[in-house]
Parts: sequence; structure tokens; C-alpha cells
Amino acid sequence: MSLRLIERSPTEVAGYYDTRYTEGSDHWTLGHDPMTREDIALIREHLRTGNALDVGCGKGRYARLLARSYRTVGIDISEVALRKARERANGTPNMFLLRADATQLPFSNETFDLVFDRGCLHHMHPEDHAAYAGEVQRILKRGGLYRLFAFTENYAPQGHFSTNTVHGHYNYFFSSHYIERLFGGFEVISSRKNSVHTVWHLLMRRPAI
Ligand SMILES: C[S@@+](CC[C@H](N)C(=O)[O-])C[C@H]1O[C@@H](n2cnc3c(N)ncnc32)[C@H](O)[C@@H]1O
Repeated sequence: MSLRLIERSPTEVAGYYDTRYTEGSDHWTLGHDPMTREDIALIREHLRTGNALDVGCGKGRYARLLARSYRTVGIDISEVALRKARERANGTPNMFLLRADATQLPFSNETFDLVFDRGCLHHMHPEDHAAYAGEVQRILKRGGLYRLFAFTENYAPQGHFSTNTVHGHYNYFFSSHYIERLFGGFEVISSRKNSVHTVWHLLMRRPAI
């Protein structure tokens, strides 16, 4: 696998992730993440039923969990990831998978009660962050929930707003100010970091009016 920094175009990003999933170097799906399961339990306290979107769903491990409670759509830019997600779905009801770019989502305004992101935004090019945030706000219903799992600025020695590359893809390390700017007006329901303070676990709400 090439360690060359990937370009920002959707074609190159998709090709990069297709390769990672094909060769089995999608290391992010190997670890168990108890805090994400806790986040899903917390989401259930705030939302009983409705439509959920898993952005950058990969092989669908969290989309399958969400589908136990919500009519869930998982999108990913990688067709190979989605193929593996379909294999694993094994007839899971309430779950739909489709290829889409998080900066241009094929959904009508205010479609979802929940947008769930476990590790997509922090791998996107910083110049795409505003488009992503605009799409999240557009497709979320008023009062809808947004859950973000993203690297903190404690992770990277470069500090705030820095980008870094590992394995050739982008990693972005988020400060709370940067997240506030991206999702201005969202109410923070829960803000936690993992035990070593390298990952945000945020649950936010789009204002009801
Ligand atoms: C670190 S993986 C996380 C996968 C999954 N959420 C999980 O926890 O197993 C990031 C995922 O985001 C997807 N991705 C990256 N850029 C994307 C984009 N612009 N639009 C949609 N998906 C994207 C990748 O293909 C990859 O599956």
C-alpha cells in the first residue's frame, strides 16, 4: 500500500478506502469501543424511534446496532466497505446501505432524527469540513441529534487545527472551539473524552427552532 498522501477528490478517497478494505488493513474495525456502545445507550435515552444516518458506516458494525432501534441508513464512500457491510447485515431489518459522499448527501432536508459519525469527519480533508457540517445541519430534523466521535487536539503533537497523516489519509484533531464553529447553535447534550483524552464523544442537538 502506498503511503502517499491521498488527494481530496471523492474518486481518490473512495479508491483509497476500497484498497484498505480489500486488503484488510481497515485496522479501525478491529478494536472494541465500549464508549461508542455507551453513546448509543445515551442516544436511546433521548430518542426512542425515528430515522438514523450512520455517516461513513464502513462495514456497518454500528449501523447494525442503530437498526435495532431506528430505521437506519448507512452511507460510505467506499463500495468495498458497503459490500462487506451487506454481507454482515445478514438480513438485519430496518437497515439500508448506499454509497454517498458525506459532503453531498442524497437526502431531502430534515430527513433524519439522528446523524451518527464514528470516525468519518476526522479523516476528511479540512477544506471539506464546512460542507460536511452544512449537510449534517440540512438533513437533520429540527431538534434532531448529532453524535460525533472525533480525534481531539490532545492526540497530535501539532496542537489545535493541525492536520497530520498516518497511513496516507488525513487525520484532523479537533478543538472544542473548532467544533463549536462547525456546528454553531447546536446544543451540547453530552461531551466526554476517552480515558487518554484523545477522542471526543459528543452528543449534540440541532436547535428546535
Ligand atoms: C475510520 S473509518 C470508520 C468506519 C465505521 N464508522 C466504523 O467505526 O467501523 C472511516 C470511514 O469513513 C469513510 N469515508 C471517508 N471519507 C468519506 C466521505 N467523504 N464520505 C463518506 N464516507 C467517507 C471511509 O470509507 C471509512 O469507511
